[in-house]
Parts: sequence; structure tokens; C-alpha cells
Amino acid sequence: MPAFACAFAGVQSRMDSQIDWHAARAALEWQMEMGVTETISDIPINRFEQMQPPPKAGVGPGVAAPAVPVQPAPATDPVAEAEVAAEACSDLAALKAALAAYPHCELRKGARNLVFSDGVPGARVMIVGEAPGRDEDRIGKPFVGRAGQLLDKMLAAIDLGRDPDGRNAVYITNVLPWRPPQNRDPKPDEIAMMLPFLKRHIALTKPDVLVVMGNVSCQALLGKRGITRLRGQWAEVDGLPAIPMFHPAYLLRNPAAKREAWADLLDLQARLTKKD
Ligand code: URA
Repeated sequence: MPAFACAFAGVQSRMDSQIDWHAARAALEWQMEMGVTETISDIPINRFEQMQPPPKAGVGPGVAAPAVPVQPAPATDPVAEAEVAAEACSDLAALKAALAAYPHCELRKGARNLVFSDGVPGARVMIVGEAPGRDEDRIGKPFVGRAGQLLDKMLAAIDLGRDPDGRNAVYITNVLPWRPPQNRDPKPDEIAMMLPFLKRHIALTKPDVLVVMGNVSCQALLGKRGITRLRGQWAEVDGLPAIPMFHPAYLLRNPAAKREAWADLLDLQARLTKKD
């Protein structure tokens, strides 16, 4: 069925370039409704591109085609664009909208949801995790899976939580707002283009203290990795005190490290009490 193959190739080539998870799913459902039962090739063929354009008047064998000046595509700098977009945001709603409109991070195409934040904006403690996992991607909130449940227990142990009950609330976000495929580690260019949004997020919520959870967050905010060495060592991020801590997902895999995590939580609590 050539006409169908043509349409299919068009959908496929669009899928390779632009469309997101929701559109890809709709395209797949449409193909199934149309009766597609098998794929005939791994590589899409765009029959529209293969069609020869009709010869132009005055152009044919033996007649030189007029030279058409080719305009080079303007170079895009995803980090510079992110900086401009983030800087223009004067509140969190604008920042979320700017992230949703930002086109250069490939992760958005495979994600179901943009995972922006949870907890209480303006809380004294802001927690920065790494990236959404499967549960976060499905629900659209950070730290709602197993690691999130452990995080809630850790916070409750020092009388903190994400419920909007004022004084002891926390605010939670991630370095990346979209889930990386198969939960792979974020790539340096992905971190670099999301960093201006994260920095603006911190500036807009103005916490007293940052908790930097795991290596990816340390890389993004402190410019270094090595959480085993960094944890518990207070640092500074844009003038704010920041404490690196083991990521709860790491603690699930390495329960023996909960001892150090507990020490860091007590240190955080002491810092908050001191500033009361
Ligand atoms: N791990 C993170 O770093 N963030 C989440 O939101 C969930 C798991």
C-alpha cells in the first residue's frame, strides 16, 4: 500500500525530529487503527523527499541552473538561549512555562510530563535532586517513587516535610525536569542547558538553605562530583549555604551509608535552628 507507506514515512520522519511522547503515542495508535500489523523496515523512508521536483522553466539538460545563494542556518547556542529565557522569568509560573517552551533539550521528547517541583515555594529548605524517574514522569512531581518515600522519611526524622504547613516545609526540584530514557545519567550538555533554569528557580524561591542530593546535583551546582567526599561539607551556591547529601536512591542500594546521611540531616537541622 504505497499511499499508506508514504504517510507512514512522513509520520516516522517527523517522529525522528520533533514530536514528543504524547504525539508519538497518538501516531502509533493511529497506525494501529489503520490496520498496521507489522513494520517492514527499521529505517523510515520519506517518499516525499524521494520525489524529483519538476524541472523549472529554462532549466534542463545543457542549461545551467541559476546559482541560488545558500543562507547558512543561524547558529543556536542552547545554553545562551536558556540563560535569556530563564532571566526573563519573574515568577515560578513563568519559569515553568519557559521550560515547557524551551526546544533544545532532547529529553522532553521522550518524557510524559515536565516535572517542575513539589512542596512549598519560599520554604527555608530547597532540595535539588537529579532527574525524574519513571514514577515522577508518570505523575509529574519530583520524588514520588521509592527514593521519594525514603526522602520523606528522612525529612520527617528532622521534622521537615513537603506539606504546606509553613515553617517546617521544604521545596523540591531536580536538575533536569524531564526523565532521561531508561534513567540513564544526564549528559553534560543536558545539565548545562538546564542550569540557567535551575539557578533562576533558586533565585525566585529564595530558600535559606540548599540540599544538593547526589552527584548530578553536585556537578550542576558545585561544579564537582564525588558525593562520598563532598557529603556533609557545607558549600556555597550563589551566596546560599548548600549541603551535599547522599541521594536517597543511593541509600536504598547502600543502607550502610544511612549513618552518614543521618549525621548530615542533624547538621541541616542544627543550621536551621541556629538561623531561627
Ligand atoms: N530521583 C531524583 O533525583 N529525583 C526525582 O524526582 C526522583 C528520583
